Amino acid sequence: MRTSVGIIGAGPAGLLLAQLLQQHGIDSVVLEARGRAEVESTVRAGVLEPGTVELLTAAGADARLRSQGSEHRGITLAFDGKHHRIDLYALTGRAITIYPQHELLKDLIAARLAAGGRLAFDSPVTALEGFDGSGPAQIRYRDAHGERVLECDFIVGCDGFHGIARQALGERDPPWQRQYPFAWFGILSASPPSAAELIYASHERGFALVSTRSPTLQRLYFQCAQDDSVDAWPDARIWDELQARVPTADGAGLERGEILHKNIVTMRSFVARRLQRGRLFLAGDAAHIVPPTGAKGLNLAAADVSLLASALRAHYREGSDEALRGYSRCALRRIWRAEHFSWRLTSLLHAFPDASPFEREMQRAELDYLVSSRAAATCLAENYVGMPRDWG
Ligand code: APR
Ligand code: PHB
Repeated sequence: MRTSVGIIGAGPAGLLLAQLLQQHGIDSVVLEARGRAEVESTVRAGVLEPGTVELLTAAGADARLRSQGSEHRGITLAFDGKHHRIDLYALTGRAITIYPQHELLKDLIAARLAAGGRLAFDSPVTALEGFDGSGPAQIRYRDAHGERVLECDFIVGCDGFHGIARQALGERDPPWQRQYPFAWFGILSASPPSAAELIYASHERGFALVSTRSPTLQRLYFQCAQDDSVDAWPDARIWDELQARVPTADGAGLERGEILHKNIVTMRSFVARRLQRGRLFLAGDAAHIVPPTGAKGLNLAAADVSLLASALRAHYREGSDEALRGYSRCALRRIWRAEHFSWRLTSLLHAFPDASPFEREMQRAELDYLVSSRAAATCLAENYVGMPRDWG
């Protein structure tokens, strides 16, 4: 099999890239290790920046998110028993859209298949070759028929943090990274939203987040120990812990409901030293990880592939490789902005096990500043809704 761009991974990064390339008339093949049902059901964050919605529109995958997603013009910071609204829209003129990521994946997959795009599930990639030389690059993979090879001009590794593309790039220097001394316990609950907008709560027992998925489904998280286990948390204990951390505006409790799903999310900041070698490029979680505070992961992946799609277009249409050569530098600027923001928000809102009383007062001072200064709130809001597309 032969194509122009071989894409590893059918997560948001790989699927969106394939769609954007198609808009530019560039042929691609997406190879995905997992089955379609699993890809379409994995629970992930669901906050879309306006720039991401624009890209999904360009990719022809925005119809359902426009009718079923909900626009949020603000978020709430909760601490010391009080709610403080950050008016994203008043501060930036922009709003976020809440739409479950697995629904977005369904939309991208449907759009890909409707466009006649080649997308192979249950096809794990096992090796990458030839991307450093001048002949075609080769992607070796396995499917129901056995060992196969896909030949291509370019390879893009959109295969997530545990994929093989970053290893194939062969970076000797260690990546830039940081671990956090806690994790998030996430639940999906069959209950209506407890609040109209997301609540980020800082409490001495630990951080908590009230998010939503739909009028009948809530997503909530609370900070837990790194080595915590799902089994240690029966439903009643989860609700009590969340309630203890989240003050409700009108004194009413959280909307409790049947817990449909529980998982533990690890917290890490990570940036690969190189995003390119020869004709192999990395995008999305393969290239960087942010802790989930601020929900930048998907948005950053979308920004990466937007850059790559334009750079590949310049290669095929104009014969210019300047943008491809500049991909790492250009992408890393936005990546580091989001890394800084996610780290800052994580540091601000969580209870660090070894924090001194001085450090806790520093957190309170910053929270107080954020909710009492328009300049400070604007800085938070600008990052939260995402830097404009033409930034960087
Ligand atoms: N061969 C083929 N596919 C692979 C291989 C492989 N060897 N290794 C991993 N994959 C697939 C995974 O099965 C997964 O479906 O690559 C995909 C990577 O998808 P994500 O982990 O979602 O990564 P990405 O698309 O970069 O995600 C961007 O959205 O889902 C969130 O947390 C994610 O915030 C991140 C953002
Ligand atoms: C989510 O809805 O899953 C979510 C929302 C906001 C975050 C992280 C996750 O910061």
